[in-house]
Amino acid sequence: MDKNYKVAIIGCGGISHMHAGWYVNEPRATITAIADIDEERLKAYGERYEVEKQYTDFIEMLQTEDIDLVSVCTRPKHHAPLVIEAAKHGVKGILSEKPMAENLGQAKAMLESCSQHGVKLAIDHQVRFSSPYQHAQEMIADGAIGDIFRIHGICGGGDLKDNATHTVDLMLYLYGDRPVSWVIGQIERIGTPTKYDLHSEDFAIGYFKFEDNARGIIESGNDTAPGYHHIYCYGTEGEIELAAPGGPGIRYRNQETGGEWATPELPSEITPVRDLINAIEEDREHRSSGHCGYATLELLMAIYESSRKRQRVRLPMEEMESPLTLMIEDGWV
Ligand SMILES: NC(=O)c1ccc[n+]([C@@H]2O[C@H](COP(=O)([O-])OP(=O)(O)OC[C@H]3O[C@@H](n4cnc5c(N)ncnc54)[C@H](O)[C@@H]3O)[C@@H](O)[C@H]2O)c1
Repeated sequence: MDKNYKVAIIGCGGISHMHAGWYVNEPRATITAIADIDEERLKAYGERYEVEKQYTDFIEMLQTEDIDLVSVCTRPKHHAPLVIEAAKHGVKGILSEKPMAENLGQAKAMLESCSQHGVKLAIDHQVRFSSPYQHAQEMIADGAIGDIFRIHGICGGGDLKDNATHTVDLMLYLYGDRPVSWVIGQIERIGTPTKYDLHSEDFAIGYFKFEDNARGIIESGNDTAPGYHHIYCYGTEGEIELAAPGGPGIRYRNQETGGEWATPELPSEITPVRDLINAIEEDREHRSSGHCGYATLELLMAIYESSRKRQRVRLPMEEMESPLTLMIEDGWV
């Protein structure tokens, strides 16, 4: 098969190696050019993945090279400006790192720019592509545990925007990316923690209602069960547990299993890159589209907003700045 999608990777730090692996293993893609402001990193990355076209200025790269797909692998403050710039340069798809942006205003501008230029935008909440979560999503959609009434997610490390963004994103994914009506939440911040150059918090809890009345609970921070993305889905006819501490990646029980826990056979996985190319070719949304990324960021921001306002926050969110930043600037936390 022709390697016909020419790829540029912007930001050659930690996470960019995961993206490079996806492209290297994708028969329809070739890493054509890379950009980083750090020349040493750029050179080492170029050598490792055999990419000769190396730029310290990503705009020059986009102007010079004929690029189809862009991976944005920089820290969150740069996601919006880079995605918006890349969308203007005739690319077909962009896979941008999580969290989608620093605030909802930036995320909205990313969606608008990609829509205006006909670019498929995907946010790298890649755990959506992990087979236990994919299988659980399919089981719930098929009614295997009846009507969902509660989904409880726990992210035992890091903050909402860094690690729990995956957990919240998975909770929305598992329930078919249904809209959320309101959120109530609280955060605790000790000292002045930051993560990836953004203000951060030590502990957070959020309780939310899906439009159909099902409820979600998210706990995040170091005082929760250790490990990531433990998710418990409760339905009228059964339960599914994902990554429960000490348990398998997935187990479920319903009438069919006689109420006993069972582990299902899992589907094979595809990568976010493969889904991006498929989404372009089939002219459909990516599994982790920009709109999904926006919904996830909105829920995270609503937890901060609820903590700031000390009340429930109805969605859609009106505040386009980060309420956490506003709280800190106001001297509240
Ligand atoms: N999806 C995941 O599971 C996952 C895991 C880890 C990190 N991340 C996310 O990936 C992002 C990057 O994290 P990281 O650990 O790789 O950070 P990093 O600091 O290691 O890498 C960022 C790179 O971007 C470069 N850069 C900065 N500004 C640039 C510009 N204008 N043009 C080109 N390059 C520029 C830096 O020099 C650096 O090499 C973060 O948003 C983080 O949340 C996602």
